[in-house]
Amino acid sequence: MTNALITGWGMYAPARVMTNEDLTKLVDTSDEWIVSRTGIRERRIAADDETTTTLSVNAARDALAVAGVDASEVDLIILGTCSPDYPLPATACLVARDLGATRAAAFDLAAACSGFVYALATANGFVRSGMYRNVLVIGVEVLSRFIDWTDRNTCVLFGDGAGAVLLQASDQPGGMTGFQLFAEGSGFEGIIVPAGGSACPASPRTAAEGQHFIHMAGRDVYKYATRQLAESAIAAVRDAGLTMADIDQFVFHQANLRIIEHVARELGMPMEKTYLNIEKYGNTSAASVPMALAEAVAAGRIKEGDRVLMVAFGAGYTAAAAVVEWTADPARAFLAPGEQTRLGLPQRSLEEVAA
Ligand code: ACO
Repeated sequence: MTNALITGWGMYAPARVMTNEDLTKLVDTSDEWIVSRTGIRERRIAADDETTTTLSVNAARDALAVAGVDASEVDLIILGTCSPDYPLPATACLVARDLGATRAAAFDLAAACSGFVYALATANGFVRSGMYRNVLVIGVEVLSRFIDWTDRNTCVLFGDGAGAVLLQASDQPGGMTGFQLFAEGSGFEGIIVPAGGSACPASPRTAAEGQHFIHMAGRDVYKYATRQLAESAIAAVRDAGLTMADIDQFVFHQANLRIIEHVARELGMPMEKTYLNIEKYGNTSAASVPMALAEAVAAGRIKEGDRVLMVAFGAGYTAAAAVVEWTADPARAFLAPGEQTRLGLPQRSLEEVAA
């Protein structure tokens, strides 16, 4: 049986930091309100010359470098996002072009904040079926371009970023072992960009009304998330043939610290086993799980043999959970001499590995 192993990982956060204090100059809010309701202290905002493609390429290059795989060997790129460069073509095609992934198939996957975990499940299917051996899975957002910066209900929540993993076919045990994907379409209005699609084409009127921005019914989303997340988590763990006590590290979609704490309590999951970076990045939607995953590995929180549970929820309403048995030793991966990933890992050069 072919297994799908994560052999490379990477992330990229734009350099520009926007603090809660900065937001108080734009809308009627306060650092105290944002921190106490969400856990967010700051977020990253893409520079004018950065796009969903450029963020993705930065994260993907690191993932390929860690795996020691050349872009030309990638068979497929699946890019989870709800903030693509264009409605068409797919951003994944631009990423393939810029990476030099000349023989890769490429498509975008739309499941909002659940996009990365949905993409991971899709990639797992391609690898395990034997169709592809090297699949690059990216979660990325530049939501700052889809936010109404006069709407305090949404602008305080989101940030920009990208994360990527390389999923590779292997005969080794481990890798992706359990999934649950979920969608509840009746909640589609809970988080929505109302204009710009076939239901409501873009027009001067929709632009004037700000209908091309994200609109969100925050309390409804909160209720949905706290109801569904634990259920998805339990289903994925069961699919992997495990119990919650077997999980070494929990990587949640970083949407709201209160939601994570609520679900942790429901699952009987100790907060020490939960990687958190919401404080510095806010909700980066599809990028949040792979960014947290890459940081958790770099911080030594995920080690070879660990079982990691990833859980996300988002617009749709969607939810997704995945269990991975971590097979890559962070120190085993290497880079060409002089190269270093943004995470500072792995540090060993080819010469050191050869020695
Ligand atoms: N600063 C100050 N006050 C605010 C702000 C703000 N930024 N935003 C809202 N308020 C006010 C409201 O107007 C309201 O005032 P009122 O009582 O006078 O009407 C009050 O604060 C309380 O508002 P609530 O909406 O009840 O606040 P709540 O505690 O629910 O927190 C929040 C709001 C943070 C949005 C929460 O509901 C939440 O996190 N929901 C989930 C959102 C989410 O996770 N989305 C992720 C999916 S996104 C995707 O898929 C792309």
